[in-house]
Amino acid sequence: MSDVFAPFSLGPHELSNRIVMAPMTRNRADADGVPTDIMATYYGQRAGAGLIVTEGVQPSSTGQGYPHTPGLHSDEQVEGWRKVADAVHAEGGVVFAQIMHAGRISHPALIGTQPVAPSEVKPAGEVFTPEGLKPFETPRALETAELPGIVAEYVDAARRAVAAGLDGVELHAANGYLLQQFLSDNTNQRTDEYGGSPENRARFVIEVTQAVVEAIGAERVGIRLSPGGDFNDIHETEAAQTYAELLAGIKPLGLAYLHVIDDPSGEVASALREGFDGTVIVNTGFAGSSDLSTAQEALAQDRGELFSIGRAFISNPDLVERLKADAPLADPDMDTFYAGGAKGYVDYPTLEESAA
Ligand SMILES: Cc1cc2nc3c(=O)[nH]c(=O)nc-3n(C[C@H](O)[C@H](O)[C@H](O)COP(=O)(O)O)c2cc1C
Repeated sequence: MSDVFAPFSLGPHELSNRIVMAPMTRNRADADGVPTDIMATYYGQRAGAGLIVTEGVQPSSTGQGYPHTPGLHSDEQVEGWRKVADAVHAEGGVVFAQIMHAGRISHPALIGTQPVAPSEVKPAGEVFTPEGLKPFETPRALETAELPGIVAEYVDAARRAVAAGLDGVELHAANGYLLQQFLSDNTNQRTDEYGGSPENRARFVIEVTQAVVEAIGAERVGIRLSPGGDFNDIHETEAAQTYAELLAGIKPLGLAYLHVIDDPSGEVASALREGFDGTVIVNTGFAGSSDLSTAQEALAQDRGELFSIGRAFISNPDLVERLKADAPLADPDMDTFYAGGAKGYVDYPTLEESAA
């Protein structure tokens, strides 16, 4: 059985164990999307993860989906991220930034312009804005001629991540944000070469991935997928075909990893696992709460080489040490997930601190 505490070589990076901190939006950046000092503290505290994937980071101001999320499109933001990278490296950790363009999961009250998407399809529900919860609005469909500009935003953000000293980037093609909006047939109703068939719907994600790989090197690029997932009003009816097309397009690139959130049936996730010849990170999604036994089970079943855990990392900065010691885990306080400020962010004690 694969030992979750055994080291792992992820391209040039030596991970100290096989537990990955899953990306989690925590809304602690300043009003300009600049990472704050408490963010450096937070990620530094969690550097015992084999790999940290940061919260979603917008590659442009239009790509922002929530208040106080960090960006990677200004020099000030790069300087903020440098503090995060330094804090994680000082503790021997490895950190990739998750590049997340929210697409239609945004609001003019947040970004000062109409959100963009593959097609004019309004999401169900409401969105957090600086003025409180508001119903979603219909997004503006991107013109075909605008797509190279969006690709360029991803490339620029990836270059800035490297310039900040971060170890790589994860492209967020999961959970109903812009890239999955291209993959899914309910959100992508385009009639150009980016819509209408599984092959066409996969095209934009492949082009973004290729361009980012060309810019910073495949060993620094991972991608996150949630095949068949319905988060953010996604309804994929041709998931098997679409993800097969996507896999065919990205497989030759030699990516650092594929980060797969289990689909409800497990079938597409298995097909991706079978078909991909590089490292796979497994995540079980919101269905349950991940711990040592779920991680061990997933690796024992060979569903991936690495296992990512989200919520338990919020309340257990020393999560890997606790799992190793079979120590009890602290429960996270949901009220402070997105609250801003240090409370419920950098004040969870380690096991040692709570014993003192
Ligand atoms: C507070 C919070 C914020 C999240 N933000 C992101 C995000 O920015 N990007 C992303 O891909 N997933 C995000 N997720 C999903 C997690 O990465 C993960 O898939 C999910 O929490 C399930 O894993 P768990 O059961 O170990 O928590 C978030 C989850 C939580 C709880």
